[in-house]
Amino acid sequence: MNADNQARVINVGILGCGVVGGALVELIHERREAIAAAAGVELRVTQVGVRSASKERPGVPNDLLTTDTKALVTADDVDVVVEVIGGIEPAQELIRSAMAGGKPVVTANKELLANYGAELSAAADEAGVDLLFEAAVAGAIPIVRPLRESLLGEDVTRIMGIVNGTTNYILTKMSEEGATYEAALAEAQRLGYAEADPTADVGGFDAGAKAAIMASIAFGARVVAGDVYHEGISEITKADIDYANELGYEIKLLAIAEVIEGEQREIGVRVHPAMVPCTHPLASVRDSFNAVFVEGRSAGELMFYGRGAGGRPTASAVLGDLVDAAANLAAGTHRSVPVGAPCRIRPIDDIESAYYLNADVDDSPGVLAQVASVFGAHGLSIRSMNQEGGDGDGAGSARIALVTHQARERDLQAALHDLRELDSVTGIGSVLRVIES
Ligand code: HSE
Repeated sequence: MNADNQARVINVGILGCGVVGGALVELIHERREAIAAAAGVELRVTQVGVRSASKERPGVPNDLLTTDTKALVTADDVDVVVEVIGGIEPAQELIRSAMAGGKPVVTANKELLANYGAELSAAADEAGVDLLFEAAVAGAIPIVRPLRESLLGEDVTRIMGIVNGTTNYILTKMSEEGATYEAALAEAQRLGYAEADPTADVGGFDAGAKAAIMASIAFGARVVAGDVYHEGISEITKADIDYANELGYEIKLLAIAEVIEGEQREIGVRVHPAMVPCTHPLASVRDSFNAVFVEGRSAGELMFYGRGAGGRPTASAVLGDLVDAAANLAAGTHRSVPVGAPCRIRPIDDIESAYYLNADVDDSPGVLAQVASVFGAHGLSIRSMNQEGGDGDGAGSARIALVTHQARERDLQAALHDLRELDSVTGIGSVLRVIES
């Protein structure tokens, strides 16, 4: 508060008035007094940048709307800019222009940050303004600030996140209700979780961008979306889920970022479906919820859980940043963000994991030994193996399912290649990485 105990008015310009922008306008209105009392700043929305000003936007007064977004980011009646339009351009140009003019920026734009986060943070620092982006990763869940502030002194070794609600919803429906992938996806689209073109979600791209942002912050490294290996969930079948459940696992799409210490420090960052033990906290994250599991040498295991998408949850995270940026502006300060150092990304071929796979084989004597010898030849150790079907008369076929101990991806792929060459192996089904604990 200032000397006469009045909250300082901070004018806010919002770029975008979709689900998040609209919810943010409402939320600022609802929370204005509480924020003024708690933080000493009164947020006042002065402009909302939109593509078409003629569209009805319930809860957003028409006189706030403008299509001149370039003017909004340099306007005298805008002190802080919020960007919730998404995508690379024109978002990047507008954010740069706002910061260059001395205006702090709050954004929820994961795509932009996962590609140009380091450059934008450097530009913010040069301009002496905040660039805050809590909402870019896992919606309402506070994870950017905990990684950046609360865990600054911690030696974070691994982060595993369920950071895409659409895919978690689909996998939950398949696991709990026996839905096929196609039916679960259609239901996700009907409920508005999945886009008409669901590729960004089901292909792991959305989670990949979030993994890059989390890795950059947690490890002080420059990790971009292109560094993230990703596989999606569209090949996961009901049979895979049943097998996983039988073995005591749930299948989850995980975004994993880890430090691999060796001669050279490397960062492994990837998104793929994985079998998660039912006893692991991430296995109980259901429906469209998100969670981020953080492991640190001193702190041990932490889990952050909540809504990863949706208008109000995402707007809530944006608002937290907005209050921070406004209070910093009022105090004449800003928090500088260290730009991550260049780092070595460990190629996926060198990543180690336990693996699950199933294969259809001839049901005849010696076949298991042949399969086992392929694994042995590539230095892969089998942890468990079981067989379904087949009566041993040499005429039918059987399905074997096995789980390996930790193995290098390169060796696993080589073993799969050799398995396919065996006459006795008629097909290889899914191959899934297994989280051990
Ligand atoms: N489409 C994302 C999800 C939310 O399903 O979680 C925005 O990142």
